[in-house]
Amino acid sequence: MKTRLLIVALLLGSMFASAQKQFFKPEKLVETGVYYYPEAWNPDQWDRDFKKMAEMGFEFTHFAEFAWAQLEPTEGVYDFKWLDKSVELAAKYNLKVIMCTPVATPPVWLTKKYPEVLVVMPNGLTAQHGTREHYSWSSPKYQELSKKMVEAMAKHYANDKRIWGWQIDNEPSHYGTLDYNPAAQASFRVWLKKKYQTIDALNKAWGTPFWSGVYSGFEQIELPNEGRLISGVASPTSLLDMKRFNADECAMFISLQNKILKDNVAKSQFVTTNFMNGHTDVDPWRNPDLDFITYTVYPVAGYTEGVGDQGFRLGDPWRISFANDFFRSLKGVTGVMELQPGQVNWGSYNPQPYPGAVRMWLWNAFAGGLDFICSYRFRQPAYGGEQFHYGMVGTDGVTPLNGGQQYSQFMSEIRELRKQYVPNAVMPKEYAARKTAMVYNMDNVWETTIQPQTFQWNERNHITKYYNSLKLLTAPVEIVSETKDLSAYPVVVVAAYQMVDKALVEKWYKYAENGGQLVVTVRTGLKDHNGHFPEAPWADVITKLIGGKIVMNDMLGGNKMAKVSFGGKEYSWNNWGDMLEPAAGTEVWATFADQFYAGKPTVIHRKLGKGTVTYIGTDTDDGKLEKDVLKKVYETAGIGVQELPEGVMVNWRDGFFIANNYSSSNVTLDIPQTTNIIFGTKEMTPAGVVVWK
Ligand code: GAL
Repeated sequence: MKTRLLIVALLLGSMFASAQKQFFKPEKLVETGVYYYPEAWNPDQWDRDFKKMAEMGFEFTHFAEFAWAQLEPTEGVYDFKWLDKSVELAAKYNLKVIMCTPVATPPVWLTKKYPEVLVVMPNGLTAQHGTREHYSWSSPKYQELSKKMVEAMAKHYANDKRIWGWQIDNEPSHYGTLDYNPAAQASFRVWLKKKYQTIDALNKAWGTPFWSGVYSGFEQIELPNEGRLISGVASPTSLLDMKRFNADECAMFISLQNKILKDNVAKSQFVTTNFMNGHTDVDPWRNPDLDFITYTVYPVAGYTEGVGDQGFRLGDPWRISFANDFFRSLKGVTGVMELQPGQVNWGSYNPQPYPGAVRMWLWNAFAGGLDFICSYRFRQPAYGGEQFHYGMVGTDGVTPLNGGQQYSQFMSEIRELRKQYVPNAVMPKEYAARKTAMVYNMDNVWETTIQPQTFQWNERNHITKYYNSLKLLTAPVEIVSETKDLSAYPVVVVAAYQMVDKALVEKWYKYAENGGQLVVTVRTGLKDHNGHFPEAPWADVITKLIGGKIVMNDMLGGNKMAKVSFGGKEYSWNNWGDMLEPAAGTEVWATFADQFYAGKPTVIHRKLGKGTVTYIGTDTDDGKLEKDVLKKVYETAGIGVQELPEGVMVNWRDGFFIANNYSSSNVTLDIPQTTNIIFGTKEMTPAGVVVWK
């Protein structure tokens, strides 16, 4: 068994390595590019624009994700002339091209002639022309027309050396809308039949005896629509299946294009897509058929306070690091397809990023081992739905904006850094010793959103809070799926992993027994894969693992806070608190300090074989308790940590350490005097970056 695992791990390892070698040159470290829309600008300006792009330091550009109307002006008649010209001019300035399939925006002739391809929204209205992502993944007609378009493009650029790779679609998703197109309805029934085989099995899984929900045939089933429910949903499992189905349909539509591209284009051209970071209606990990997956990220758009009074201009410290560690995990390679260029237009308000923040994000993306970083977009749009959105250059088309200047600075710094690149650098020992995996599954995000139990529950927040705490202890983190072999990680965190089965819990048990430090948090192990409570004592399936019972949980509302005491300190919480009953031999690390259960344990720790298991039964807002408990876990296991000031991220790649300061204050980094600092200083201002060897 062990040897088999080892062989699989080695094979996967070499596959990753070859994906990287096939498309990217390690000595380039990272290549930086930017989106350009030739279809939107006067052709007389193209040459000038590509020249400028290259002068600013960009090494590639990105075309055509919204250009179906220009590529197929009438059905079956393709026009590549304008795109050929653009590719040619880009090449003149040594800019490689990422070419995109334009399926996000069907032309109006298409949706007028075949209105059945359009998304039907939850309120029953059909989406209309003049937006994007308004097509149904499930529509056979749309699939047919997309295949033709993609095939024509693939054949046209199949062996073109100037094409670096392909992006399928653009941020595949329906931007939060669910699709009630009759074709989706029909596919949902097929999907259910395949999954359950019999209607009895479906009734069982969906728990339909509740509220007279029983079905006698698959043809009776409609896609659940929360807008049409009077008082809650009879079967949360039906909603969960709908989320799973929705993500599968998206993945299917991506795969369909991937196959056409793979069948037609040269092996040297990669095929990927760009998922929205943090968006949870689709599931990026459902497309392992792509060469790798990439993400889009906009840290500052009025939706976060960040750290300190300027945090809203800097963004959350964990956001880019988490995306790196999540998206890289699928194939060992990733890139950012869109990194914010400066001020944007679509937030509830759109502040200017803090001076230097754009460069800091670039370094933070680099730090995750990424092979390329691309930005949306070169020119600020003069018209259209995103007018106030900055580009690299402003409305005059030639003057670099503040973000554009920071991209140029970053790119010239990377050119310097390339001179110091040494192949095959080995991760420093004390850093590698903290290597931590966080186990992740989209099912848990969906399930806890359907039945949150408190309006304060947010699964992603819970996970990223732990992630942030791990990073504050300077741990390298990987976000992994439950099938991943965990033996390479000294520490594993299983956060709010609500849906489990015995085999999975057994795997975690063995991991600890064999010497791993396992951390398990609130809500883990409560339900099976159908979202049911097993007929057993509460959380019975993890009782043996965590060395204790979960007696009950509690939560408080809004501003009402309760207290936990740990290590002589008190911490506030109100989201979720588990009262625990430790088994003999299990240590109590923290107890509730008030409420009617004052004195009862909520964090427990036990030895298990050669390793340990720690259960953290409280979810706080600020994550301070969680961080302090994690610190004790590392220290108890003899793993040294380096604690960072809040807002600081430190990552390592290719022989370089990179620190970013997302906090609003100056901080001094604790690194030895003798360190070879390449950029920056130990005294970091907000948005500061330090790179050292
Ligand atoms: C992205 C999208 C781009 C553009 C950008 C604006 O999410 O993929 O096409 O709309 O946002 O910030």
